[in-house]
Amino acid sequence: MKVNLICESCHEHYLSSESIWQCKCGGFLSLDFHAHFPLEKIQKRKPTMWRYREALPIINDNHIISFDEGFTPLTQEEFAGKKVFLKQDHLFPSGSYKDRGASVLVSKIRELGINKVIEDSSGNAGAAIAAYCAKANIKCYIYVPEKTSQEKLKQIERYGAHLYKIPGTREDTAKAALRQAQTTYYASHYWNPYFFHGTKTFIFEIVEQLGWVTPDILLIPVGNGTLLYGTFIGLKELQRDNIIHKIPKIIGVQAENCAPLEYALKTNDNTLINYIRTKETIAEGIAVTNPVRVNDIIHAVKETNGDIISVKEQEILSALNDTFRKGFYIEPTSAVAIAGFKKYPMKQKEVVVLPLTGHGLKTSKTTIETK
Ligand SMILES: Cc1ncc(COP(=O)(O)O)c(C=O)c1O
Ligand SMILES: [Zn+2]
Repeated sequence: MKVNLICESCHEHYLSSESIWQCKCGGFLSLDFHAHFPLEKIQKRKPTMWRYREALPIINDNHIISFDEGFTPLTQEEFAGKKVFLKQDHLFPSGSYKDRGASVLVSKIRELGINKVIEDSSGNAGAAIAAYCAKANIKCYIYVPEKTSQEKLKQIERYGAHLYKIPGTREDTAKAALRQAQTTYYASHYWNPYFFHGTKTFIFEIVEQLGWVTPDILLIPVGNGTLLYGTFIGLKELQRDNIIHKIPKIIGVQAENCAPLEYALKTNDNTLINYIRTKETIAEGIAVTNPVRVNDIIHAVKETNGDIISVKEQEILSALNDTFRKGFYIEPTSAVAIAGFKKYPMKQKEVVVLPLTGHGLKTSKTTIETK
């Protein structure tokens, strides 16, 4: 397997044996590597995300850090009289889809022989990186906003990570981590390309579970875009290897109280200089005012003929309640996609999929307080 890193801005090449997460020019790195999908082999393997082994950019099997995660159930449900497939990614070992990214990224970190990493997160990515680092015996330093749910903070600490609670906004947390990342390898879920090559398995599984066909519409909660953009990368790889012949519309869903990506799409202004967030949102996982991957996210949405929509706090709470009442215990951030689905116009025959991204037990206190 041949993997290179290429800068999205200046197109500089790097070898995958180099311990870098960003180009020298400051640009994002993407992976140059040809994913393959030998279907017969894949179907005989264990039902985990690693069954797509030829599409995952880890050179040596011995470096894989895995809990046999993934291949989460895809279950049909009905909301507002419309059918939808729910991809139950809240059932991952650490309780969110971030384990997809963490498994591939921490495997790469082991492959690079790195024994200390730093990450910043609204909680779930930090918990996922902490879990996989615990399994790999890698030291990790996790930065989170002070206001993060207690359950997520405890989870990160109990995995043995060093936790730093930063006052202020999510962006203040990111800045604090970036300063440390000058000297420690940055296992960032939104900067590091290997994380996206884990989250892309979300769409591989959906396509396989639907009988190797694509859905028509995907509704994805979006903050930093690790699931949305990872899905786009995965779709491109499936298309390039002739597994699929059609790309679904990707609809990003944001909380109206923090919707910079919707703003960027509607105003054609990706700089976000004039975007001012005014209010808090219960969807803490996507409360990102200044998503650094704005260009990648908008590109993915436009190329798939998709959109970015937003939902009100009341719509999120109502969707959360509806989802609980159907027996799925999720966190409020996940309910954003359900709220988006309820109001997004679609044709009856269209096949729609959305992820349940995080487990409800991670935000029990919020759930009690919002009743
Ligand atoms: C439960 C949950 N859903 C969705 C997301 C959205 O992910 P992203 O910020 O990468 O777009 C997050 C991010 O933390 C999350 O925790
Ligand atoms: Zn560059």
